[in-house]
Amino acid sequence: MRLSVIGCGYVGLVTGACLAEAGHEVVCTDIDSERIAKLNAGGVPIYEEHLDKILASAHKARRISYTANAGDAIRAGDAIFICVGTPPKDSGEADLSAIDHVARQIAAEAHSSKLVIEKSTVPARTGMELSRALAAYSRNGGLKFRVASNPEFLREGTAVGDFFHPDRIVVGVEDPSSAAELREIYRPILEKSFHCPVHEGACPPGHRPEFLVTTINSAELIKHASNSFLALKISYANVIADLCEKIGADVEEVTHAMGLDPRIGGQFLKAGLGYGGFCFPKDVQAFIYLSARMGVDFDILKATERVNKQRIDRFFEKIRQALWVVKGKHVAVFGLAFKANTDDIRFAPALEVVKRLLEEGAVVHASDPEAMARTKALFPQLHYHEDPYEALRDADAALICTEWNMFRRLDWDRAGKVMARKLVIDGRNLYTPEAMREKGFEYYSFGRE
Ligand code: UGA
Repeated sequence: MRLSVIGCGYVGLVTGACLAEAGHEVVCTDIDSERIAKLNAGGVPIYEEHLDKILASAHKARRISYTANAGDAIRAGDAIFICVGTPPKDSGEADLSAIDHVARQIAAEAHSSKLVIEKSTVPARTGMELSRALAAYSRNGGLKFRVASNPEFLREGTAVGDFFHPDRIVVGVEDPSSAAELREIYRPILEKSFHCPVHEGACPPGHRPEFLVTTINSAELIKHASNSFLALKISYANVIADLCEKIGADVEEVTHAMGLDPRIGGQFLKAGLGYGGFCFPKDVQAFIYLSARMGVDFDILKATERVNKQRIDRFFEKIRQALWVVKGKHVAVFGLAFKANTDDIRFAPALEVVKRLLEEGAVVHASDPEAMARTKALFPQLHYHEDPYEALRDADAALICTEWNMFRRLDWDRAGKVMARKLVIDGRNLYTPEAMREKGFEYYSFGRE
């Protein structure tokens, strides 16, 4: 099929690239013409595993193209994926001005009827407004715009794998023909007839994804309800961690045992510095805002957010307790990205830690395998090191802020030889306290003695 993607951010690029790899013809556009120029020159503006590979192969096969002319992109596709940003306003409400702008563009530029698919994360009832805007701005009464909601459940770092091997594909529609069209778009994924860029040879056996057809309002709600529930799970684990510290229990033992109950599940029960990124913090806020506007009490979500914000305070208490005076101390910060396998630093807990360290006068030496370039633009005053052992030279403490595998595998015997003080404060519980103490380290983490 011929598809258009509006918005070449992380969701748009992964969606466009994967649909092209699955055999469709995709035309992408973005308001940022520099981004389009970079893509046309073969560059990839974000770090996401496998993305460069599939963009290159789709480009070579002429299945993906990029244009800064939104009208051309809009006219090229039978179906249009809207993948623009929906950042939070100060109130927590999602800012939908980019969606509104795109609706006007589609209505003005289209020469034929289109299926318009919301891929951006939006509050429930946005589809209704989108329908209304498309009809209101259309200059050609003969054109029909059908709207659908197709939320994404892609995790940064594993987004390409998630796209090709989803648990479920949710399509919120207003008529059966839109559902049929979306089923056709996703047919290669549903039938597993694509060449998987993630797995060499055959993909591991797994169940076929469910193709769920819902109303548009339900589809929109499914997305916010899913992300908020995962955030709630993390905050729950974090409160259990605080309790473990007071009681003298081990949060890893507790959450492991809890997770073995399939009704609970073991994922997203990892205690530590809490959640960040451009999805959970804004989606929780937007869901709180939406429910309040609807007159529904969603206090557990407000608590989820509060607990998450307190994680940084809790981490800092540990830092202060261990270091006594923070001012003038040489601190190695391991991990800047909001989680492992991404260069994304938006709402990263690590940056909040860095900010406070600087406010208190610490000398910060940072290391991250992918996120240093982005962080430099915000914090030029840090000392950056590709080699983590260089960050540790003469350090008074090592702080672990992101769960990168490279930090799980640090050689602490080697580290101990170059550090001024053998102190590790682990915000992601990557090590066992016993093992670190055996190596002669003072070691602090969350929810364990
Ligand atoms: C999240 C969802 O997992 C995706 O399903 C969704 O599609 C995406 O948001 C989105 O709305 O676009 P993502 O933001 O990439 O994906 O990151 P996650 O892997 O969910 O992690 C979020 C944060 O929670 C990270 O800061 C991570 O370190 C933290 N986390 C995660 C924990 O603190 N504990 C855990 O047990 C799990």
